[in-house]
Amino acid sequence: MKLGVIGAGNMGSAIIRGYIGNGAEPQSVIVCGHHPERLEPMAAELGITLMSSAVELTEASDVVLLAVKPKDAGKVLEEINPAFTPGKILVSIVAGKTMEDLAAVCPAAEKIIRVMPNTPALVRSGMTALCRNDSVGEEEFEAVKEIFEGIGRVQEVPENQMDAVTGLSGSGPAFVYLFIDALSDAGVLCGLTRAQALELAAQTVYGSARMVLETGTHPAALRDAVCSPGGTTIEGVRELEAGAFRSTVMEAVIAACEKSKNL
Ligand SMILES: NC(=O)c1ccc[n+]([C@@H]2O[C@H](COP(=O)([O-])OP(=O)(O)OC[C@H]3O[C@@H](n4cnc5c(N)ncnc54)[C@H](OP(=O)(O)O)[C@@H]3O)[C@@H](O)[C@H]2O)c1
Repeated sequence: MKLGVIGAGNMGSAIIRGYIGNGAEPQSVIVCGHHPERLEPMAAELGITLMSSAVELTEASDVVLLAVKPKDAGKVLEEINPAFTPGKILVSIVAGKTMEDLAAVCPAAEKIIRVMPNTPALVRSGMTALCRNDSVGEEEFEAVKEIFEGIGRVQEVPENQMDAVTGLSGSGPAFVYLFIDALSDAGVLCGLTRAQALELAAQTVYGSARMVLETGTHPAALRDAVCSPGGTTIEGVRELEAGAFRSTVMEAVIAACEKSKNL
């Protein structure tokens, strides 16, 4: 399978690196960009093919991954539409563009997969949700899922859940960064240096997330296990509850989800 990536910025390059890091042949990856000269070092480093136009790239690819900013997507899709022969798959990570939006500008692309990755993809710890239209077969979908498995975990969702995904895993990293920053501020207030506090805070969030994912234990049960009777942790939990912590986090995800619906 030839993978052509249009736009190798933050996300596009992370996806290419993850895909090759996971064992894909560099010769099976083609890339093109707005300013090809900026992509030359990456192409040389990874051994992938650099093409000068999106049309040429589409002609040579089985899967065309669109990774440009939403404002540039329409122009690129119009340009590549004539090169979209049957069998090729259009994969879009462009936020807010539905499969219907994509098909309206690029009607020759019968097979469409819409994807919502998140920024931890840059350190290969991303969470990616994918949905597909009815023309995409099971094997084709599995092959595209594999691309994103190189940058973290993947989940298939129906398209009507993409706004919820955007609110949770798409926007979620910003909420978690806020939490890490607050934990580390508190550490400084309690007498730690900034560097100490930041490492303690970030590793605590990382380790706790791994406990949830790797033990399969519900977070409420894990929290209960940390709260000894009359201990220090339950004092902190009481303060979080008094500040409506859980409800506030839920409202943040709902607000981001609503915004995504109205983009
Ligand atoms: N970052 C995220 O958290 C995130 C999460 C989910 C989805 N997304 C989606 O991912 C997409 C890319 O985001 P990003 O953060 O990776 O943006 P980015 O770093 O700005 O990358 C976009 C790339 O597209 C290139 N480009 C622009 N016009 C082009 C054209 N006509 N042909 C070929 N390449 C072109 C740009 O090249 P130049 O810089 O040379 O102009 C740039 O390298 C966006 O649609 C965004 O909605 C991002």
